Amino acid sequence: MKYYNLKDNTEQVSFSQAVKQGLGRNQGLFFPEHIPAFDNVEELLELGLVERSVEVLAPFVEGDLTKEELLQVIDSAFNFPAKVNSVTENVASLELYHGPTLAFKDFGARFMAQCLSRFTDGEKITILTATSGDTGAAVAHAFHGLDNIEVVILYPKGKISLLQEKMFTTLGGNIRTIAIEGSFDDCQALVKQSFDDKELAKAIGLNSANSINISRLLAQICYYFEALAQLKAQQNDKKVVLSVPSGNFGNLTAAMLAKALGLPIERFVAATNANDTVPRYLQTGEWAPNDTVATISNAMDVSNPNNWPRIEFMLQEGIIDKSSLTSKMIDEEQTQAAVIALNNLGYLSEPHGGVAYKAMVNELSEDEVGLFLGTAHPAKFKEVVESILGCPLALPKELADCASEQILSIDMAPDFAELRKFLLA
Ligand SMILES: Cc1ncc(COP(=O)(O)O)c(C=O)c1O
Repeated sequence: MKYYNLKDNTEQVSFSQAVKQGLGRNQGLFFPEHIPAFDNVEELLELGLVERSVEVLAPFVEGDLTKEELLQVIDSAFNFPAKVNSVTENVASLELYHGPTLAFKDFGARFMAQCLSRFTDGEKITILTATSGDTGAAVAHAFHGLDNIEVVILYPKGKISLLQEKMFTTLGGNIRTIAIEGSFDDCQALVKQSFDDKELAKAIGLNSANSINISRLLAQICYYFEALAQLKAQQNDKKVVLSVPSGNFGNLTAAMLAKALGLPIERFVAATNANDTVPRYLQTGEWAPNDTVATISNAMDVSNPNNWPRIEFMLQEGIIDKSSLTSKMIDEEQTQAAVIALNNLGYLSEPHGGVAYKAMVNELSEDEVGLFLGTAHPAKFKEVVESILGCPLALPKELADCASEQILSIDMAPDFAELRKFLLA
């Protein structure tokens, strides 16, 4: 399979090249040259997660990985489940937080790490990534200890939860972390500038593990198939509405690719917090990002989502029908009310899941079942969940283990010259 640059379709690369390169010329995103349509979705849904994922992803890696190699990659990457949990008769949650860093990013980061370590052939690589919360932990854990791979993670100082920070800043070894005195958008801009600096990129073998990397998106397609396989039992022929808590819109991109492959998702709700560039854009047609504002669903505090060009492309090309996408902003009060409402239904959630639940729950028709994503374990947002619900939360082992470790980050101004010096040192 070839992947082409959405900003310059004369740039066409193989899957392995797209994974190694991350971004194309002029910061263009890679996109598959064609999306196969499966006519055997029903049969695929009968398979287990690993076996099915091999079938789903095989066309996308053709020419770079044999099916056997892909099986090895997926078998070691997806060594934890995605779970559909019923909340009410017509609402369920897709829990994507049962991996080592308790967030959906474990799927993509682990798949990418496995692919990349096969594709690098001993050459030295630096993964430079920006995180608004969970990517950092997932990437750090997925790449920790891998030979010839250095990881540098930028995050907005003081704008992620302490536990989130501890999960990726305490590992040491090949994982270095920088607290940037600015917003997540500043971090993302620094990553983009680094990629634009060809001399720097070449000198350190620059690669990004952000959700712009196509391998991460491909991995995420797999859990939507798993969700529908599990949902079938309680679905009663109802149509599936998927509500996705969105920041950089990687998760929604993967969901749309899954639908394009033939997975019967009826429609999507793109749920955002006050960083509502997309809902406003879909309403007015004007792309007008505001300054990023801090919210309790902090991993979605993104005003210029980096995956949007892929979604825009799918909508423009008719790969996804525009009528199947709505988008809604959920404010802080509504988010808190949603976490409380879910708790009253006997379901423990957190602000990101709360945003997704709230954006969809009152708009389901009789013949629809709503599936909202649980993108992170509630305990990852312990302080905020405890203050909303007024009761203490227990820490799962993964978090308890790192809570007492020391943060090893350095602080840095959002200054490209300084970052460049650090990377070259
Ligand atoms: C917990 C959580 N929910 C939602 C999101 C948003 O996902 P995406 O950037 O794919 O839209 C993130 C991204 O960091 C996250 O960590």
